[in-house]
Amino acid sequence: MERVMEWDNSLNTGIDIIDKQHQGIVEFINKLHTASHNGDREIVGDVLTGLINYTVSHFAFEEDMHEKHGYPLAAPHKKVHEMFVEHVASYQERHNNGEDIARKLSGELVVWLGNHIKNEDKDYVPYCSKPIEKGVLSRMLGKYFK
Ligand SMILES: [Fe+2]
Ligand SMILES: [Fe+2]
Repeated sequence: MERVMEWDNSLNTGIDIIDKQHQGIVEFINKLHTASHNGDREIVGDVLTGLINYTVSHFAFEEDMHEKHGYPLAAPHKKVHEMFVEHVASYQERHNNGEDIARKLSGELVVWLGNHIKNEDKDYVPYCSKPIEKGVLSRMLGKYFK
């Protein structure tokens, strides 16, 4: 099965923990693409739920990191995350109502994630590159990635 999104260096922020999470989202986008190709609605639904949960966890992690580092654009960044989650949730609702949305959504996600990482996410890097203390980091991971 052909993948719809590959990781490349232009997506690296240089903050390891963030790059790993972004790679996780890329994997979900590829899973969604494969599920839509195979035409199994139940699997599409499961992948959608997994993708939304993982992305919401990532966003919460990022927002907490912004707060810890005093990133000045934390509020507008959070707003972008919220609008994105609403957008994907509306697709999930359409899927639940019997529509076939997976292919269109996976295509949109490729563009959205690439743009978000390269623009909004890269903007916080100079403010947030100081590593988070180990104990604090593991508490954050435990809190957001259940
Ligand atoms: Fe972000
Ligand atoms: Fe991000």
